[in-house]
Amino acid sequence: MGAESVPNPQPLQALMQGEHDRLYSRFKEWLNACVAGHGHEEVGRLLKFMVQYMAEHFALEEELMRTYHYPETQSHTQGHQHIRQEFEKLLKEFESFGATTKLNHLVIYFVFEWLMGHVQGTDKQLETYLLAQSTPGASSSESLGVPPGDPQPAPLNAQQKG
Ligand SMILES: [Fe+2]
Ligand SMILES: [Fe+2]
Repeated sequence: MGAESVPNPQPLQALMQGEHDRLYSRFKEWLNACVAGHGHEEVGRLLKFMVQYMAEHFALEEELMRTYHYPETQSHTQGHQHIRQEFEKLLKEFESFGATTKLNHLVIYFVFEWLMGHVQGTDKQLETYLLAQSTPGASSSESLGVPPGDPQPAPLNAQQKG
């Protein structure tokens, strides 16, 4: 990808955060359904959402890592594969055996494992790296040969002066 086509990483970091918030909200919705006694009815919908969300969200992060030559791309991507496989297994279990108490417990376990372990750890490291790429004079981008973000256009009123 050429320097002219590399987007500014700062809004992309905010985009990542927004996507994680969407995941938290969806999971919280399901927890509320559990508290209200409807967790079993809703768990299939949650799992379908998770599998679809992961396909899109992981693809976005992996594209960002490639674009910005993130040094931990390989291990981060392996983490995604592991999480994706675990949730695909849970969805298969739901399709085979329905919404069991064991399945609900496994969903809670894996969501927390992922939320706490991946989003709060591995993804935060990526967000920090992306922010560093947008900081003027950040040494990490130069040492990695990563081009800086697109130059911002001058404000319209500044262009009209003179
Ligand atoms: Fe993420
Ligand atoms: Fe990730």
